[in-house]
Amino acid sequence: MQDAISICVIGSGYVGLVAAVCFAEIGHHVICVDNDEQKVAMLNKGEVPIFEDNLPELLKKHRGRNVHFTTELRAAVEQSAAIFIAVGTPQGDSGAADLSYVEAVVSEIARAISDYKVIVEKSTVPVYTNEWIRRILNRHGVQPGSFDVVSNPEFLREGSAVSDFLFPDRIVIGTSTGRAADLMRRIYAPLTDGAYYRQEDALKGPHNRSAAAKLLVTTAQSAEIIKHASNAFLALKISFINAVANLAESVNADVEDIAAGMGMDSRIGSKFLRAGVGYGGSCFPKDVAAFRWVAQQQGLDFGLLDEVQRINNAQRDVFFNKIRSALWTLRGKRIAVLGLAFKGNTDDIRESPALDILRRLLDAGACIAAYDPAAIEKAEALLPPSAQLRYVEDAYEAAQDADALLILTDWKEFATLDLARLNRALRYPIVIDGRNLYRPETMSSHGFNYISIGRQPVWNDGARPISQRPI
Ligand code: UDX
Repeated sequence: MQDAISICVIGSGYVGLVAAVCFAEIGHHVICVDNDEQKVAMLNKGEVPIFEDNLPELLKKHRGRNVHFTTELRAAVEQSAAIFIAVGTPQGDSGAADLSYVEAVVSEIARAISDYKVIVEKSTVPVYTNEWIRRILNRHGVQPGSFDVVSNPEFLREGSAVSDFLFPDRIVIGTSTGRAADLMRRIYAPLTDGAYYRQEDALKGPHNRSAAAKLLVTTAQSAEIIKHASNAFLALKISFINAVANLAESVNADVEDIAAGMGMDSRIGSKFLRAGVGYGGSCFPKDVAAFRWVAQQQGLDFGLLDEVQRINNAQRDVFFNKIRSALWTLRGKRIAVLGLAFKGNTDDIRESPALDILRRLLDAGACIAAYDPAAIEKAEALLPPSAQLRYVEDAYEAAQDADALLILTDWKEFATLDLARLNRALRYPIVIDGRNLYRPETMSSHGFNYISIGRQPVWNDGARPISQRPI
C-alpha cells in the first residue's frame, strides 16, 4: 500500500518543478509554490516553462490530481509534512552562493509552522546552510521541537532531469534526527524498495534499469559537501581530459582513444571524460566557485579548483585559436555555427561555451549563421539578430556558402548530418568540431578539412594551418 505523504516544494525552476512532478509520479500529494504569478498560471494551464524530456507527459498525468501549483506559500506549508526548498542560489560577487532567496523563504515558512515539519534543502547550498535555516527559524520564534532541517541534494542533469530523478544513482539524506530520516525514507521508499519500477505505468529508465536506488543517510554537513564535491569532481574530470587533449594533439595521439583506455579502468570510469570546448551551464561554473569559497572560509587553499576553472576557460581560447589558424583573418568571413545551448538536449544557454565563442567571432567581425534545435529563442534575447548574425532553421541553411562550419553543442542531430549535403552547401569544406562528434577518417573520406579536439587535424587540401606545429 502506497504511503502517500503531503509535500510542499518551494520554487518551480529546474529542480523544484522536476522534483514536484516526480514526487507526484511516485504517489505523493504535492503542492508546488512559486511567487511568480505568471509562471504559476502557466503551470496551472499545463504549459511547461522548461525544455525537458518526459516533463510535459508527467505534468499532464498528475496536474490537478497529485500535483497543484500556487503562489500561497503559507497555506501550502500548513498542509504539508515535508517542505522542500528548491529556490535559486545564484553566484554572488565573491564566488559565494547568494542565499538571500533561501533566507526569504525560510522566514515565510517560519510564520506558517504550527505543527511538526521537516524542512528540506534541495537547492545546492554551501555547508552549514542547514544550521542557518535552523537559526532563522529559531529567531522567528519557531519552537526547536516543531521542526527538523534536512539536506537532500539533487543530482539531476538538465535534458535528462526526470529520468535522473526517478532512477538516481543515489539519494543522499543529511540529518541528525531519526524522526526526520524516517520521513525522508518513506518519501523515497518507492525508489529505494523498487516498488515504483515494478509499476506497469512507470517511466522507462536508462537501459531498462529497475534496480532499487541506494540511499545514504549522513549528517547535514556531509550531505551539503557531497553535492558540491560531486559537481566539482565532475568538472575536474572534464578539465583533466581537456588538458590531456591538448597534450594528445601535440604528440600525435588521439584523446578519444585515451579517454576510452582510461575509462575502462573501473576506478576511473568512462563518464565525463569527453574532451571539448569546456563545461558550462547553471551548475558547474557556479558550484566550483562556491566550493572554492567554502574552503577559503575555513582557511583552506583548495587551489586545485582554481586550476579546474583556469583550464576550462583556457579551453575556449584553444578552440578560438583553432578557428583562427584554420581561417586566418575573421573580418567578413561567413561562419556556420551549430549549437547555442551549453550542451545537447536542452534550451539552456547559461554559461554556454557556444555563446562565448559566438561573441568572440562577432567581435572579430565574422558574419554568423547560427542554428540550434531548441535554444534559438533564448539566444536571440541575449544576442539579437543583426547584419552580422542570422539565426536559421537547420544545419544545412547555416552551412550554405559558409567559409567554415563550427560544432559547439553535442546535439544528437549534429552527429548524424548528411555529410555529402553539408559538403555541397559549404563554400570551403572546413569543419571545426568542438565536441568530437565525428571520426576524422569519416570526415576525411567525405572530403572535409576537419579540426577537432585532442586529435590530429585532417587536411584534405594540404592547407595545414600555419600556427600548427609540423607533424
Ligand atoms: C550537472 C550535474 O551533472 C548534475 O548532477 C547537477 O545536479 C547539475 O549540474 P548539468 O549542468 O545539467 O548537470 O549538465 P551535465 O550533463 O553535467 O554537463 C555539464 C557541462 O559539462 C556541459 O557543458 C557539458 O557539455 C560538459 N561536459 C560534460 C563535457 O564537456 N564533457 C563531459 O564528458 C561531460
